[in-house]
Amino acid sequence: MPEQYLIRGAGSEAIASDVEEAISSGALAPGAELPPIRELATQLSVNANTVAAAYRLLRERGAVETAGRRGTRVRDRPATTPRSLRGLAVPPGVRDLSTGNPDPTLLPIATAQLPLPGSPLLYGEPAVSPELAEYAQASLTADGVSAEHLAVTAGALDGIERVLTAGLRPGDRVAVEDPGWANLLDLLAALGFSAEPVRVDDDGPLTADVARALRRGVRAVVVTTRAQNPTGAAVSAARATELRHLLADHGDVLLVEDDHCAGIAGAPLHTLAGTTRHWAFIRSAAKAYGPDLRLALLAGDRRTVDRVHGRLRLGPGWISHLLQDLAVSLWRDKESARLVHKAETVYTRNRELLGAALADRGVTSYGRSGLNVWVPVPDETVAITRLLSAGWAAAPGTRFRIATPPGIRITVSSIDADDIDPLADAVTEAIHAVGRASV
Ligand SMILES: Cc1ncc(COP(=O)(O)O)c(C=O)c1O
Repeated sequence: MPEQYLIRGAGSEAIASDVEEAISSGALAPGAELPPIRELATQLSVNANTVAAAYRLLRERGAVETAGRRGTRVRDRPATTPRSLRGLAVPPGVRDLSTGNPDPTLLPIATAQLPLPGSPLLYGEPAVSPELAEYAQASLTADGVSAEHLAVTAGALDGIERVLTAGLRPGDRVAVEDPGWANLLDLLAALGFSAEPVRVDDDGPLTADVARALRRGVRAVVVTTRAQNPTGAAVSAARATELRHLLADHGDVLLVEDDHCAGIAGAPLHTLAGTTRHWAFIRSAAKAYGPDLRLALLAGDRRTVDRVHGRLRLGPGWISHLLQDLAVSLWRDKESARLVHKAETVYTRNRELLGAALADRGVTSYGRSGLNVWVPVPDETVAITRLLSAGWAAAPGTRFRIATPPGIRITVSSIDADDIDPLADAVTEAIHAVGRASV
């Protein structure tokens, strides 16, 4: 058994800082259990309330989670750890299908010509560049999203954070897909919101689960309209109609729609935007044009968009017009459009080929949109380990799940047709390994 890290500190803030440092240095690993409150209080000769307060601080900062009898544990991806330290360690020679990244060779950003600014932009100018506003209005309106009020944020997650913090208070409940995007779950924990899980099928969030979440008093609902991460679900026309009806009866709920794969989703948009009084539709450029194009369009009702602008003004001010103008030139460029279309075709082909090859082998998988295929497995650790020994790295589902059963996420953006059979064989073997291990 590994030696347990000895937590130090005399006050709640000092104890919390010590745990945070231990998480950052790796002395406390993701999933590590913290000592029970009374035990640590005795060990540090402090009052149990002091330790309880330290654990509360750590929970509020998204560093640990408390799961009833399982006690307090370091979160799988603690909010206090830099993104770069969070990935899987992928041994040399293993194909990494765990990242959720697009194929870099299919990103137009590689060939982009950075437009030189005509004249320097000074303080006091509008936050959204006029060219970008014109383009966004045309493209969002064509997709059925009202773009009368518009902001630009540094990507989807930045937009989601600004909208949630502008509209909610710590402690509020937020309905999220389960399984759902790990960064969003981590963000909610870091902001002190509580996640209300909503299960997902191929057609998006289950209406009955959204209804239950609404009954339980959620203040916001976050929906990934297509390319749901990790399951690849896309809200169908029929599901969108049901959800719109349901949400129309809950006009006070803040609806946040995440369209992070526009251009490469491989599924049409059936938006829910505008059903409630307060809403935001966020379209990130990251997946189709490159994650380094840190930019997302955010359309919404006037109050929500004004609040986002208000908070932006007190932080970065605005998203640089150099970046906004670069995005517009990419969106208008015919060669870029061709590459984005090619990426959508390749990702769709890979998802479909892998899904069919797994089905041939009797393995159920999901993925009707986006970059990922989700495969339910009996045991994630066994499946991931077996896949690694066969030369493939996939992402364990635990990062994405709240209450749903285990699974693994396979990012298909960079595989080709020759990979399908060996990969499907390895996944099938990895699933069946559990049965054999328990004989
Ligand atoms: C569901 C979801 N939304 C948004 C994003 C992209 O967010 P950003 O624009 O912040 O990079 C991702 C990236 O993986 C995602 O999975």
